[in-house]
Amino acid sequence: MRPKISVIGSGRVGTSAALHIGLRELGDVVLVDIVQGLPQGEALDLNHMAAILGLDVEYTGTNDYRDIEGSEVVVVTAGFIRKADMTRMDLLTKNSAIIRDVSLKIKEHAPKSKVIVVTNPLDVMTYVALKTTGFERERVMGFSGLLDIGRYKTLIAKELGVSWNSIEAPILGEHGDSMVLLPRHTSVGGRPLTSLLTGDRIEAILKETREMGAKIISLKGWSAHHAPGAGAALMVDAIVRDRNAVIPVSFYHMGEYGFEGVCSVVPAVIGRTGVKKVIELELNPEEREALIRSVEKVRQAQQEVDRLLASGAS
Ligand SMILES: NC(=O)c1ccc[n+]([C@@H]2O[C@H](COP(=O)([O-])OP(=O)(O)OC[C@H]3O[C@@H](n4cnc5c(N)ncnc54)[C@H](O)[C@@H]3O)[C@@H](O)[C@H]2O)c1
Repeated sequence: MRPKISVIGSGRVGTSAALHIGLRELGDVVLVDIVQGLPQGEALDLNHMAAILGLDVEYTGTNDYRDIEGSEVVVVTAGFIRKADMTRMDLLTKNSAIIRDVSLKIKEHAPKSKVIVVTNPLDVMTYVALKTTGFERERVMGFSGLLDIGRYKTLIAKELGVSWNSIEAPILGEHGDSMVLLPRHTSVGGRPLTSLLTGDRIEAILKETREMGAKIISLKGWSAHHAPGAGAALMVDAIVRDRNAVIPVSFYHMGEYGFEGVCSVVPAVIGRTGVKKVIELELNPEEREALIRSVEKVRQAQQEVDRLLASGAS
């Protein structure tokens, strides 16, 4: 029997993830949304794609969470993107309510699944999913690191005239402006980036990476979805095929990098059981300082969400 993979939210990122899961033939895909007809229509379209390409996968669209029963992996993309007229707090309030609702459904109907959260603000939504499902932390992880690293690699590749396949780069901290990219640990053909580019050029690349999400929204009018969908599918691949791949994921810390009780991005070994191991990098005082600032930002947002959920506001 093929694995069952459910994707909650059949919008841009959800359908892109579903498409890439199919292209990799990782399993049968159940698309879920609250909008009547949307997941059913997307599933028809994707099945026709599978037929054209001769892929051994089947898509189902539904508004009924009972259909996610038996899922090995659930990818959560339900929720709003931040629009120009929305404050950070609006997004936090709206999406934490959605993620709480979706997580309760996952807990009820797919209690053995591994959960990949994609909805923003990413680290805090990963925290809400973990707390609401009550799953072991190894089974709940947030997608974002592959996206930020993908953006970073394209800029380095262009600057140095090398393939992005030759670049290794880790990332830590929040998925947001305070993300911690590590040029000292970034290598091109085995050489650290810091020995290949000047400090000014590296700073420019870091800035451009951080601003890439906003740049895409300003250019095309909505947020990235091709790269996030492909990246989320790669995480599903690592789980379903038990690859033990090192992937940056947002993960609930219990002592890793010196933090407790907060979700933030770390490089981790991902396989059948979810997060198998966190890889701890040696950081210099400047890098550690940046990481502390970044993680504390997430912790503050988590506290806001805790207050919201306790007051029943969401
Ligand atoms: N982590 C990342 O790197 C990353 C990258 C891109 C986008 N995102 C985030 O992913 C989320 C989705 O983005 P998108 O572009 O696909 O948005 P979208 O508006 O295209 O799709 C969101 C879908 O979620 C559905 N939805 C809302 N509430 C639901 C519920 N309770 N149950 C099921 N479905 C529900 C909506 O009907 C809609 O179809 C946003 O929060 C966005 O910011 C994260």
